[in-house]
Amino acid sequence: MTKEIYLTGDRPTGKLHIGHYVGSLKNRVVMQNSGDYDPFVMIADTQAFTDNARDPKKIRDSLTEVALDYLAVGLDPKKTTIFVQSQIKGLFELTSYYMNLVTVARLQRNPTVKAEIQQKSFGESIPAGFFTYPVSQAADITIFRAKKVPVGDDQEPMIEQTRELVRSFNNAYHTDILVEPEGVFPEKGLGRIPGIDGDAKMSKSLGNAIYLSDDADTVAAKVKQMYTDPKHVAVDDPGHVEGNVVFTYLDIFDPDTKQVADLKAQYTHGGLGDMKLKKYLIEVLESELKPIRERRIAFAQDIPAILQMLKDGSDHANEIAEATMKEIRQAIGVNYFAGLK
Ligand code: TRP
Repeated sequence: MTKEIYLTGDRPTGKLHIGHYVGSLKNRVVMQNSGDYDPFVMIADTQAFTDNARDPKKIRDSLTEVALDYLAVGLDPKKTTIFVQSQIKGLFELTSYYMNLVTVARLQRNPTVKAEIQQKSFGESIPAGFFTYPVSQAADITIFRAKKVPVGDDQEPMIEQTRELVRSFNNAYHTDILVEPEGVFPEKGLGRIPGIDGDAKMSKSLGNAIYLSDDADTVAAKVKQMYTDPKHVAVDDPGHVEGNVVFTYLDIFDPDTKQVADLKAQYTHGGLGDMKLKKYLIEVLESELKPIRERRIAFAQDIPAILQMLKDGSDHANEIAEATMKEIRQAIGVNYFAGLK
């Protein structure tokens, strides 16, 4: 029986942080180890270029960093095809064909792209590649005939647009070779974890992230800066749990839910100091992050092996992609020279 393919990816624009970990990486490892899937994980460098075209060094450097993050959390190249988007030439070709099956008006309605354009303050200078990246993302998903796409909630519109493109393509070329994918979304509360400053989103650009590669002292220092309750000044003051990042993180990372409930009760009542609470969170985080960090350091000893792993993964991914492209070219009718030498 052929296993269901899942595909997902990350833009290599920096190292991955604990938001990526709880929102996505952890679940990928579970899906990988379930044995129920044929997993593909892509480092989306082509997509990273859509808003970083003038900074190829950042993308190149991040390629190995992201690969190390993957291996550190337990993605295993024996079970998961880990590959690099730009190396799959069929993706550029398929993107070109898709581009004619979507309207500018439809692209303008994509809420995630809309929000990102605002955030990045492109003004009137939106790169065309950025504006159309949902089309290229549809190619990523469909060239591998992925059924499941585990992504963050913000990627829902991309999946929807992919499904539309699949229908348009199959309809335009009277075929059924393309598969409509389904998104797999994070459990409630894990899709978006706040930054250490209390901002709703942990992100590199906001400088409020804890990275999987941070050493123990850095993690401790970041927890000590963490936003708690500004009105909780003296230890005996009653404190607020809601919006208090330390508690948000304990809810996510501490398996001992009874302990967390007790701490919340104590904090709300008064008598639990921020320092003591933060020391506890540091321990909780360390028990999860230490093994990841140690594996990351071990893998980082041999960068050529990491590049070889990415090349092997890309070679394998290319074979799968080419098989689909053959059918695509045939369906469209651009296989003019089939059978000729
Ligand atoms: N847009 C995704 C992100 O920013 C990355 C990505 C690119 C992706 N291609 C993909 C995710 C295909 C899932 C499937 O996180």
